[in-house]
Amino acid sequence: MVSREQQVPVITVDGPGGSGKGTICRLLAQRLGWQLLDSGALYRLTALAARHHGVALDDVEALVVLAAHLDVRFVSGDGDELQIVLEGEEVTQAIRTEETGSEASVVAALGPVRDALLSRQRDFAHLPGLIADGRDMGTVVFPAADLKIYLDASAEERARRRYNQLISKGVGASLGEILDDIRVRDARDMNRAVAPLKPAPDAVILDTTQMTIEEVLQAVLDEARHRGLR
Ligand code: DC
Repeated sequence: MVSREQQVPVITVDGPGGSGKGTICRLLAQRLGWQLLDSGALYRLTALAARHHGVALDDVEALVVLAAHLDVRFVSGDGDELQIVLEGEEVTQAIRTEETGSEASVVAALGPVRDALLSRQRDFAHLPGLIADGRDMGTVVFPAADLKIYLDASAEERARRRYNQLISKGVGASLGEILDDIRVRDARDMNRAVAPLKPAPDAVILDTTQMTIEEVLQAVLDEARHRGLR
């Protein structure tokens, strides 16, 4: 039997935080008119649900229950961004804080939690196609994807991007603290036992340190065209 994710064209985009995945995936989904899976949001939502329910981040059993039963809706709003509603509460901004990101990275290191989120992620594969943004999209969740991209950038450049993003939103930030945090999170994501962050053997690796968003987008669209995906 052919599984749905094999029938639906899938482009996976993996890489560390701040490599530009989120922006590129959103633009790709818009350009191609495809679905978008922001898998990091599911780990962030699990961490936030844990906080709301007073579940400790080392209580694996309770975290698995939360992950398996996440009551979440992705709702189209006025702007580009989907609104995210967790248990009836709008949490679009709340899941983006540094604190929730750190907690998500802890939760994401737990194999049973990852397993609990697997089928939910694969359910995003719908025609005409799916752009899947994450850390293990090409290695674990969609191993048969038509195109696998791995975006990278130096930790310093990623910290600068995050810093500028926060400053432009009027949020106070310290570049040094952001860089430290990025290094801690990279180490956790890359060295964990289950589904560590690494390029799939057949991934196209793009170092975006010196590239503009438009250049990265064009490079990915070119790869998609070579594979007959456009
Ligand atoms: O991409 P992000 O910052 O929203 O991800 C939040 C955390 O979740 C990050 O520490 C890595 C983890 N994550 C993961 O382990 N696997 C994914 N497919 C997506 C995110």
